[in-house]
Amino acid sequence: MPTRTFPVEGMTAQDAFRLVAEDLALEGDPARNLATFVTTWMEPEAQRIIAENLHRNFIDHAEYPRTAEIEQRCIRMLADLFHAPGATTGARTQGSSEAIMLGGLSLKWNWRKRRGAATAVPNLVFGGDVHVVWEKFCRYFDVEPRIVPLRPGKYTIGPDDVEPFVDENTIGVAAVLGTTFTGHKDDIAGINELLLRIKSERGLDVPLHVDGASGGFVWPFLYPDTAWDFRLEQVRSINVSGHKFGLVYPGIGWLIFRESADLADELVFKENYLGKTDSTFTLNFSTGSAMVLAQYYNLVRYGRTGYAYIMKNMQANARVLGEKLAAMGLFELIGPDEEQLPLVAFRLAADNGFDEFDVAWQLAAERGWMVPAYTLPPNAQRVTIMRALVKETMSREHVDTLARDIEEACATLAKKGGAHELERHRMVQGPGH
Ligand SMILES: Cc1ncc(COP(=O)(O)O)c(C=O)c1O
Repeated sequence: MPTRTFPVEGMTAQDAFRLVAEDLALEGDPARNLATFVTTWMEPEAQRIIAENLHRNFIDHAEYPRTAEIEQRCIRMLADLFHAPGATTGARTQGSSEAIMLGGLSLKWNWRKRRGAATAVPNLVFGGDVHVVWEKFCRYFDVEPRIVPLRPGKYTIGPDDVEPFVDENTIGVAAVLGTTFTGHKDDIAGINELLLRIKSERGLDVPLHVDGASGGFVWPFLYPDTAWDFRLEQVRSINVSGHKFGLVYPGIGWLIFRESADLADELVFKENYLGKTDSTFTLNFSTGSAMVLAQYYNLVRYGRTGYAYIMKNMQANARVLGEKLAAMGLFELIGPDEEQLPLVAFRLAADNGFDEFDVAWQLAAERGWMVPAYTLPPNAQRVTIMRALVKETMSREHVDTLARDIEEACATLAKKGGAHELERHRMVQGPGH
């Protein structure tokens, strides 16, 4: 099997197909991977749309004007879902990471305009509960990260935590809706109030960006009365991953601005290589059309009622799993009564001679479930938790089986004790993405 050097001769299509397929036979089973937020199942009709459009390059708006229109429909529908006050703008991206890079750049450019000729170092304020992409943005684009630390028992941030970090060089505050770690939200309404107060008292207009990578497709359906979006005045931009709870395969994400003016003009490029003058606001150029079309398929296929039905179903199954874990007497749940993504975050309630990494490992070894164990960010790094996503494909029967398998894994560990430190950490996954 060629693996290192560029093969001199090719092989038949059939041989190449078998070779790749055989390699992939060793991959994990997505139905048992409860670590990832990303979609692992779509309807056959959606799969057909994807398969029939794999050859189209999305960026070629001159050749594919209908796809460009469909992208704009998705942006308008999401702006409507997020209560944008009027006409707005946005971008289709490869996922939330690209959306966050673009949103962060727009914050930086707008700050520069506010500050005039100042040469100060820009900073961005966010909590330790953010996804790694926020630190990446700061490093890649020369912005000082001002990270509000967590602490044991407090895994999200609010206005009191944020206030000391904000100054005239703050390009924005980023708050999370549905954290990667525990699935909860930052106190976005409280941070909005703080920023309004700072605006009126100190004359600093600091924008709030909401990272709704997962939560942007969950809160509108499970908690429609909670204001976290453009209903709050300082929320100027929101990112959401279509490929997480938007229920589309990877990679598709969205960046939505409150108003067109929130997107810095300098970041939009005009080119006419492809036959027609076009504006682009992306980090990537060429990319497939299929997932944009699949996103539109889902939006029209499910509507608000359908998404709410699916989200409530996942939430009900997550609650059952949580109750079963709590009933075992071994685990404590993390924030089960707060607004949360459809998942169960839990940790061992006492020292039983094994830890969460052991449970994750034993469960993977015995039954093939991937339920990650990981430590929380500073200053809660001493806390280890486990997290099980309960997605569309996870039925009540699966929940019952998983709960039983976790109990059996713990029974095995109680007999044999925890694993060797080194082995444990090699086997167990991080918090996923
Ligand atoms: C809160 C949050 N933000 C950003 C990201 C990155 O999103 P993507 O994988 O769509 O690039 C993730 C991924 O899990 C996330 O959970």
